[in-house]
Amino acid sequence: MTVPGFLRADRPARPDPVRPAEPAPVRLAHNELPFPPLPSVAAVLEQALANGHRYPDPAATRLAHRLGELVGAPETDVVVGPGSAALLQHLVQATCTPADAVLFCWPSFEAYPFVAEVLGVGRQVVPLDADGSHDLDGMLAAVTPATRLLILCNPNNPTGTVVAQERIAALVDAVPDHVLVVLDEAYREFAPAVDGVAVLHGARRANVAVLRTFSKAYGLAGLRVGYCVAPAPVAVALRRVTLPFTVTAAAQLAALASLDAGDELAGRVRAVVAERERVRAALGSMGWSCPPSHGNFLWLPSGPDAVAFAAHCAAAGIHVRAVPGEGVRVTVGGVGDNEALLRAAASFPGGWRWSGGEPGGSAGGAG
Ligand SMILES: Cc1ncc(COP(=O)(O)O)c(C=O)c1O
Repeated sequence: MTVPGFLRADRPARPDPVRPAEPAPVRLAHNELPFPPLPSVAAVLEQALANGHRYPDPAATRLAHRLGELVGAPETDVVVGPGSAALLQHLVQATCTPADAVLFCWPSFEAYPFVAEVLGVGRQVVPLDADGSHDLDGMLAAVTPATRLLILCNPNNPTGTVVAQERIAALVDAVPDHVLVVLDEAYREFAPAVDGVAVLHGARRANVAVLRTFSKAYGLAGLRVGYCVAPAPVAVALRRVTLPFTVTAAAQLAALASLDAGDELAGRVRAVVAERERVRAALGSMGWSCPPSHGNFLWLPSGPDAVAFAAHCAAAGIHVRAVPGEGVRVTVGGVGDNEALLRAAASFPGGWRWSGGEPGGSAGGAG
């Protein structure tokens, strides 16, 4: 394909190295919830459709107010956006010039390097510890005068590890004043002890922004809505760089209806967690060691076998996410989809060779 001269040639490509032919019958690559919208959510979507000729509330006022009540913050400290990844991009736009940098551990959420690259800001990358957890000392040591954002994915996608609240608070207190710590809590409902807002409010800290989403535990990935809780100056700066009307009325109403359905959603989260532990134990009994996960996914630290295993799954019509050379992340799906994954694991030629594995041993246990 010839690239027209008006297009920038230096934009990052985002190839998925191993994607089954579309449509993939088994979707275990995006950490979605395997359940359709709740009936109460479907009902408000009808309502939103009937008003499809109107622009939505640009400030998502009702939702911001409700979220403020939920997290104990003034609604002005809550910024609603079309997904938490978009809000992360806006945070980078609000804080970084091309001379600045964002700092994060790796492997982590693939949007971090992507957003930095697209916006033309620097990346400071610290490897995760050997057990897949954040190296907080390493992150602190990597801070330079150019660092503007330090992003901590908690629980971490893809390794499923968590950093305890006290350690986060200590990190936030240790970073220099020119650094904003961004706590990406996309999976926090699967790890309720994680609460970045408590860190933010605990000592009225001025240098923390917490990102959360309705895409994961709330099951609204297709509607695109997330939010940021941040101190007032950060929230104001964030609003200045966001496009108006990007959060649709359907998304706002669905999020509000989901907040009203807390018990039903909590039941879904419990079901996913139970299924996660069942799949992990089943993998363990085949000798596939996967570490405890605090998200709706499991991490198979398969190292050099990552792409081969993802390709093996793709051939069976299962889409999983390979991080080449590191491992494979598999979403905990519905029982049938998880069974398909277990069959693919059982038939992977050669089995696993990664270090730390216990061929034939059990790696099951609580996450
Ligand atoms: C750590 C993390 N943050 C953010 C997101 C994106 O969430 P959203 O759909 O709200 O943009 C994801 C999605 O996979 C994620 O894994």
